[in-house]
Amino acid sequence: MAQRPYIVGNWKMNGTRAMLPEARAIDRAAQRHMKVEVAVAPPYTLIHAVHREAEQIGVGAQDCSPDPDGAHTGDISASMLADAGAKFVILGHSERRQAYGETSEQVNAKAVAALEVGIRVIICCGEPLDVREAGKAEDYVAKQLQASLPAIEDAGEKVTVAYEPIWAIGTGKTATNDDIAAMHAMIRELLNKRYGEDQSADVRILYGGSVKPENAAEILGTAEVGGALVGGASLTADSFMGIALAASETEEG
Ligand code: PGA
Repeated sequence: MAQRPYIVGNWKMNGTRAMLPEARAIDRAAQRHMKVEVAVAPPYTLIHAVHREAEQIGVGAQDCSPDPDGAHTGDISASMLADAGAKFVILGHSERRQAYGETSEQVNAKAVAALEVGIRVIICCGEPLDVREAGKAEDYVAKQLQASLPAIEDAGEKVTVAYEPIWAIGTGKTATNDDIAAMHAMIRELLNKRYGEDQSADVRILYGGSVKPENAAEILGTAEVGGALVGGASLTADSFMGIALAASETEEG
């Protein structure tokens, strides 16, 4: 069964309890766009509070530990996330890969840990600018994904991939439609081989990097784009739901 478009807000390190009315507004608006699956990943400190506000939207986290418990000062395990109400976790975001040297092997281990406690995963991938300019973006992303994707039988329901070219994140730049289509086609091929065509058909491939209400319709209308991972524009209900509206119209169109 084809999945609904998936619009996920990554709040990054933004938001205190003062953001809860915004989360409520996103949730109310999402109730008017049932053809779209809307979700937000607030910082850890807000997961439980946003979960309590949410009737419609999914609530998730931006990272988790690969370990179940123990002496890991400052870390948060997947079962803690589940306990707080998280239903999914974003893993391998380029900001974590770059700032903390997170490897694809670590991303894979985190994904296994999350799936074990019933948390869905959004696995991020994306190339830096020099790799894109050298014409090696597809090879780079393929390698990243091969190592990051967890081995799992029922990937269709549980795994989402987010392609986010690093040079497009928070910069106002987006990849061209042709580049997005080519990358997403390569990722689909890889998913077909990895999980089998039946399961792969339900794995959504999100695009991320400066997605806004103004460019959402074009991006979401591109072949194999199953939704968007949204940073800056997910911080207000107005702009975030502008993107969900574009997704909803793409569905109808
Ligand atoms: P951006 O971030 O929408 O602010 O570019 C996207 C992301 O990093 O997920």
